[in-house]
Amino acid sequence: MNVPNHIAIILDGNGRWAKAKGMPRSYGHVKGCANLETICDDMKELGVKYLTVYAFSTENWKRSREEVEGLMKLFRNYLKKCIKISEKNKMRVKIIGDVTAFDDDIQQKIAELEEFSKDYTELHFQIALNYGSRDEIVRGMRRMARDASEGRISPEDIDENTIGNYLDTVGIPDPDFLIRTSGEQRLSNFLLWQMAYTEFYFTDVAWPDFHKAELIKAIEKYNERDRRYGGVKEE
Ligand code: IPE
Ligand code: IPE
Ligand code: MG
Repeated sequence: MNVPNHIAIILDGNGRWAKAKGMPRSYGHVKGCANLETICDDMKELGVKYLTVYAFSTENWKRSREEVEGLMKLFRNYLKKCIKISEKNKMRVKIIGDVTAFDDDIQQKIAELEEFSKDYTELHFQIALNYGSRDEIVRGMRRMARDASEGRISPEDIDENTIGNYLDTVGIPDPDFLIRTSGEQRLSNFLLWQMAYTEFYFTDVAWPDFHKAELIKAIEKYNERDRRYGGVKEE
């Protein structure tokens, strides 16, 4: 089985999963968060090198105060726990997104986790928090315009690589495979630039139920794809 080098996942369906069990949405988020721990183990075992997950979007602040507060509490716990997980899996953790919107203690936990795990190379794990692809492009292009107006780069030299270098994902190869759980078939503002040639996979399974067998099923589907990048393959 050919395992994708970089898998991106839109972790969706926590709320509906909980509701179907007669439980509050927050219960779904707790179970979804627990599943994130096991999926990292599975990815490492399968030999995936890069994993990027969408955990909180720039649009998710629109949810009820109660839900947002519950998620912040979960992030606090998870970021702390993730130090141990990174050590166990030898995985480097990076947060993509505008982290300046979070409370200071969350920003501090993010900095600690990134610093602690920075030399690990077995698995590169990116967590998108307060991430929106359009917001990422706006922030990056502001920096690029500043660099141009202050003479650090010249407009003629700007190419696709330059733009990639101003995004949060700098240094991370583009995803080969995108998985979105729980039935929705849209990108919801995730990695728009980076997924120009990514293969998409949608499943009705909700995120808290997306375990290793489902992951393997998805990768088997990936193996049936004929990736072309605009060309045609020699017979
Ligand atoms: C994904 O599950 C987690 C976050 C967006 C934080 P949802 O909370 O979107 O669950 P559904 O889609 O409402 O079921
Ligand atoms: C996308 O899921 C964001 C995350 C999974 C973090 P949403 O559930 O917020 O997306 P929409 O609103 O259904 O498009
Ligand atoms: Mg959702």
